[in-house]
Amino acid sequence: MKFSRQLVLICSGSDCKKAGSKRIRKELKHAATEGSLRGHCKFFQTKCMDMCKSAPVVVVNSHFCKKADTKTVMDQIKKA
Ligand code: FES
Repeated sequence: MKFSRQLVLICSGSDCKKAGSKRIRKELKHAATEGSLRGHCKFFQTKCMDMCKSAPVVVVNSHFCKKADTKTVMDQIKKA
């Protein structure tokens, strides 16, 4: 079964916040409301996922994006 919406989990723990997860979340939400990802994904904030050395951590469905940036996450969402 293929889901029509991608689930995106964005860590909002302290290390990921320092590494820029808040900025990534803002940019992704902007893309999801007005840009190319409109209606394609649902975002959730999570607590620390115990992978702080790879911060910021973003999970797209079952794929972990370590040391994520907005472009890699958007590519993963489009790929999934
Ligand atoms: S703060 Fe994000 S994995 Fe720990």
